[in-house]
Amino acid sequence: MITPCLDSLWSRGKELLAVQYPIMCGAMTWVSEPNLVSAVCEAGAFASLACGNMPPEELRRQIAETRRRTSRPFAVNLITVAPNYLQHLEVVIEEKLPVIIFAGSVPRDVEIEKAKASGAKVLAFASTDALAKRMIRFGVDGLILEGSEAGGHIGPVAGPILWQQILFRFSDQVPIFIAGGVATGKMMAHLLLMGAAGVQLGTRFVMTDECVAHPNFKEEFRRAQARDAMASPQFDSRLPVIPVRALKNKGTVEFGKLQIELLKKLDAGEIDRETAQLEVERFWIGALRRAVIEGDVEYGSLMAGQTVGLADEIMPVRMVIQELVTDAERELQLIAARLQPFAS
Ligand SMILES: Cc1cc2nc3c(=O)[nH]c(=O)nc-3n(C[C@H](O)[C@H](O)[C@H](O)COP(=O)(O)O)c2cc1C
Repeated sequence: MITPCLDSLWSRGKELLAVQYPIMCGAMTWVSEPNLVSAVCEAGAFASLACGNMPPEELRRQIAETRRRTSRPFAVNLITVAPNYLQHLEVVIEEKLPVIIFAGSVPRDVEIEKAKASGAKVLAFASTDALAKRMIRFGVDGLILEGSEAGGHIGPVAGPILWQQILFRFSDQVPIFIAGGVATGKMMAHLLLMGAAGVQLGTRFVMTDECVAHPNFKEEFRRAQARDAMASPQFDSRLPVIPVRALKNKGTVEFGKLQIELLKKLDAGEIDRETAQLEVERFWIGALRRAVIEGDVEYGSLMAGQTVGLADEIMPVRMVIQELVTDAERELQLIAARLQPFAS
């Protein structure tokens, strides 16, 4: 595809990831496995294996399997709060991944240095301006700026606020990829014009033939409206909840009831805070796997971004990428034509 406008805008993203199209399929636990990752890379874009908290040997196996399916570059997405995180970091360093992505919380500067010393390009998620600035200070090669409209674990700030706080101010210092809320080529075009080096999509890639998620999971995505992808509520600061954006289902209703019950018990002195907190944390353990792999869409976790309202059709990965690129290039050419009378 000939894409002169895109090429003039996304060269930094292309160079950093060493790809044709700096469109990333974000890591999604249980979803981003070798089949989906290799399909995205073979289509000219970029993807990351999600390692969640898998045993380190399973991560090594998935890296090998992905390499068997594609010779193109891909990343591993490390969750810094996962119990196996440090072992995952060792594996990706030993395996010489070309790109390492830190997600979940704040990686330590020494960990970033170690990852960079292995020869990898290092990207880190940022969901607040403070975190973004800290990651830039720690020397990351690129940022993934993720707004709270995204699917999965989310930060507290909406994308457009982060774009104004970080993208507009720091895109000349470090390549910035925008995650959350992106589902169309038109949107991608405007983000590139705003200074983004590329984009990251998650929800839209669930709706692909190559995504291994259970057909029930995809069917819920097909039916859902944007407003159905809700952030998990927290009713009282005594019982903190790590916010996750997911489709509402019977599980989310039960989770609300559990919190209310626990708060009543706390008020009555029938339970201590630690035990109550443990019950909150225990509620969703294994729930994403139940939904993605087993197809339990009633009680499993249906993590999804608000872009679910824009992803109604299951398509081959290649078609998704082609559509994003074609629509983005067309939008940029329309803008260029609109501005032509003002060019000096
Ligand atoms: C089902 C699902 C699982 C996800 N799991 C992870 C994960 O394990 N690690 C991570 O860093 N991000 C995870 N994410 C976030 C995605 O990588 C991506 O940044 C996000 O989906 C982008 O926003 P969008 O949903 O609007 O496309 C997940 C998202 C979804 C929808």
